[in-house]
Amino acid sequence: MYRFDERIDRQGTNSVKWETNHPDYNGEGMLPLWVADMDFACPPEVTEALIKRASHPIYGYPMKQVSFYQSLQEWIHKRFGITVEESWMTGIPGVVPGLHVAIEAFTAMNDKVLVQTPVYHPFFHAVENRGRQVITSSLVEKAGRYEMNWDDLAQKLSDPRVKLMLLCSPHNPVGRVWTREELERLGTLCVEQGVIVVADEIHADLVYEKGSHTPYYSLAPELSSQSVTFLSASKTFNLAGLFTSYLLTENHQLLRDFSQTASKMGYENLNLFGMEATIAAFRHGEAWLTELLVYLRGNAEYLNRCLAKKLPEISMAVPEATYLGWMDFRLLGLSQAELNKLLRREAKLGLHDGVTFGSEGEGFQRINFGCPRVILEEAMSRLEQAIHR
Ligand SMILES: Cc1ncc(COP(=O)(O)O)c(C=O)c1O
Repeated sequence: MYRFDERIDRQGTNSVKWETNHPDYNGEGMLPLWVADMDFACPPEVTEALIKRASHPIYGYPMKQVSFYQSLQEWIHKRFGITVEESWMTGIPGVVPGLHVAIEAFTAMNDKVLVQTPVYHPFFHAVENRGRQVITSSLVEKAGRYEMNWDDLAQKLSDPRVKLMLLCSPHNPVGRVWTREELERLGTLCVEQGVIVVADEIHADLVYEKGSHTPYYSLAPELSSQSVTFLSASKTFNLAGLFTSYLLTENHQLLRDFSQTASKMGYENLNLFGMEATIAAFRHGEAWLTELLVYLRGNAEYLNRCLAKKLPEISMAVPEATYLGWMDFRLLGLSQAELNKLLRREAKLGLHDGVTFGSEGEGFQRINFGCPRVILEEAMSRLEQAIHR
């Protein structure tokens, strides 16, 4: 019913992905497959809600509506069968600003914050820009699937200066959906060492096996009470430009500390349109999401098959979640600079350089496959020509 195959021209919409004149990602003639938004129209009910609100010509300060919190509460119940309380939530204008607030609220200057690399790069900036120190634990790759590095984690978490861990769940860029067992094992380690877990679950709805995502807040109270979770409709329903997200925790002290710090940092309000869009998406977007997931999985399988058949020296595992693929170019034997040059200058593809996500990304590139399949067909044909030249 929804037309995910339709190619929609984004020129003239002020799109970072398509219109920034960035020589690495969308310079002259390049196909941009980098920054994580999708080239699909959002659910029509969201557009209708925005138009309805926009037709009232006064855009003054909005209240944080009860229905904003209720819509997330209902969504969590519908998707995961979990009951959460409205009193466990607050709003924050974007997950990245929220990460900054959480780090400021829960750690002190020079404390250490653990991340599992390769990982969504603003995790590094959020830690460093707040004067804290990044500690990395490299994920372990086994035939294209990544796992946590348990011995390394146990050792690093035991450092008394590690006070917080940023967990990406599901994980960008490697596409893992962490299992309940993995999360429990991790949570146990963190609780033993008094480390607070900040779970970024912005990709929680974009999983390919129904029911596979385990929300961190659904773990046993002794684990979940030492955590906060970020959630948003922005990745799921393609609303990233509306900068509206949530923090959820059953730990009232953590919620209070987060809210007070957010307020001190100037994050008092939420965007009027962001709230309207979020409510509409959670209340009316489920059918759209069901179809989106089928389309996205088809895209990932297309890339996986196409590479195996035409360019077997390059591979991409079908991720368990997200519309981001982790492409492995290591067999080409190129340095990262040579690889980037080949992709950008010859194939004219704006893939996201793997090392952006940590040194473990050497030999990799991240592809955003949240787009009509014709764009991916074009990308594969450019890649084939550049490699076989
Ligand atoms: C793991 C993760 N967290 C956060 C964000 C961005 O969140 P926001 O736009 O709400 O700041 C992204 C976007 O790609 C992401 O992948």
